[in-house]
Amino acid sequence: MAEYVGIDLGTTLSGLAYLKPDGNAEIVPNADGERLTPSVVYFDAHEDVKLVGSAARDGGDPDRTVYQIKRHMDDPEYFVEMDGKKWTPAEISALILSKLKRECSRIIGEINDVVITVPANFNELARKNTVAAADMAGLKVRRLVNEPTAAAVYYAHTQAVKGRILVFDLGGGTLDVTILEVDNDSFKILTSEGARHLGGANFDEQLLDIYSAQYKAQINAELCTDERQRRRVLHAAEDAKKMLSKLQRVNDTIGNDSNGIARIDLTREQFEKTVSKLLTRAIMLVEQALAGIKLTTKDIEHVVLVGGSTRIPKVKSALEKHFGKPPKSCGNVDEAVALGAALFAKRSGRVREVCNASYGTLAMLMDAGSGEEGVQNSVVIPKNTPIPCSKTQVYVTSEPNEKVIEVDITQGEDTDPRYVDIIGRIILEVPPNRPAGCEIAVTYSYDENQRVRALVVDKQSGRSQEVAVSYKGKGILSEEELKKRGTALRQLRIE
Ligand SMILES: Nc1ncnc2c1ncn2[C@@H]1O[C@H](COP(=O)(O)OP(=O)(O)OP(=O)(O)O)[C@@H](O)[C@H]1O
Ligand SMILES: [Mg+2]
Repeated sequence: MAEYVGIDLGTTLSGLAYLKPDGNAEIVPNADGERLTPSVVYFDAHEDVKLVGSAARDGGDPDRTVYQIKRHMDDPEYFVEMDGKKWTPAEISALILSKLKRECSRIIGEINDVVITVPANFNELARKNTVAAADMAGLKVRRLVNEPTAAAVYYAHTQAVKGRILVFDLGGGTLDVTILEVDNDSFKILTSEGARHLGGANFDEQLLDIYSAQYKAQINAELCTDERQRRRVLHAAEDAKKMLSKLQRVNDTIGNDSNGIARIDLTREQFEKTVSKLLTRAIMLVEQALAGIKLTTKDIEHVVLVGGSTRIPKVKSALEKHFGKPPKSCGNVDEAVALGAALFAKRSGRVREVCNASYGTLAMLMDAGSGEEGVQNSVVIPKNTPIPCSKTQVYVTSEPNEKVIEVDITQGEDTDPRYVDIIGRIILEVPPNRPAGCEIAVTYSYDENQRVRALVVDKQSGRSQEVAVSYKGKGILSEEELKKRGTALRQLRIE
């Protein structure tokens, strides 16, 4: 039986690694002989067979193929309908995990407990779905760990490093920027910032636009007439993108039977120009991470590259320009996360992580500037607090005879409610006929897997409500709604 196993459940590729008796981690290949398994599932039309991996990716009908399911792990409404059955993102992910468990256990023996990696900015629902997927695949999650943390553990294991490290993880679907301090074998995460929908798949989409434009110019017809053709062009664009990491120019032919074939000509310069806005966003995220903990580029000793998309020369040169020194590859950009997860499985006690967002509620607060009372965002648990942790803020009711206390759950640092997300609401019924000033305690807790819970307690009656906190998308309030909200509570003290 393999005791310490790590799984990188990636947007495009997934991998499993285990800790060998000599203390080093090793990738376990799947039954197709591949070290990494494409995170793609194909539902066969004729037999009740689901293919996972390369066979699914390179196989048949795109309408029956599911790609990049990880991008939907935080969407409670998303499902894939296949032959009348609705598949949730967790169920699709479970098929990928099942293949890894089944095939890798043939080589390293039974696999039960695993560490699974997730993007640093994965929210509660996405984390919960990842655990549920593992459960369905017959795997027990020992811990969830953030992908850049796992990569940093691998980097520090393979190279003797000390000091502040910035991990720049640009994969297929997400960018994660994590800053941490490494001292011998201990890791202190200082902050993480993430951008969803910033990864290799976005570069492919942009190349698809170039392909379509060149095709139209030559053939005077649309290149992508259906989903199947779009997928085919995206594959071609991805291959061209990878070649452009090595070559200055690539030629390709693309087309279809009805409209004919066109010759596509792409240069690296053209590609770099096309993705420059995305790269600027990436550098802005680096700055946001540094600014959040009041550091500058000079405070970073090593910039470490993780993720397949960091092979793009422009990604490296943009970071070199920004930091004034070349970034370092973690050696194995595609496998570092899985290898790090296996190493982490044994030494999780040596890694200290932090909250990845601030949570609070709306309350009546005195504005420091104007001296007037108004609805403000009152942060209970600030971003970058070491985890696991739990913090309580006590509020008082501002009106007499409140029968129901409504506590908004906010995500964000700003005191101005217009600049934070209202991601949920806890409604608590309280005994009637009470004066104003009754104490209401709001507690947020982060567990070691970065899963967040909110608890509201009416101190007098002892009545309480607890919910799992999950990001639900932008909850921007209108001025009118703002006026109606938050009047129930006045901030009192932190416990
Ligand atoms: N030589 C290369 N040049 C450019 N891009 C590359 C190269 N090799 C791989 N990629 C891109 O890297 C991406 C896959 O990287 P990786 O395996 O790190 O992602 P992932 O772990 O599946 O995604 P995520 O971490 O976002 O969940 C793909 O978009 C792929 O096209
Ligand atoms: Mg990855």
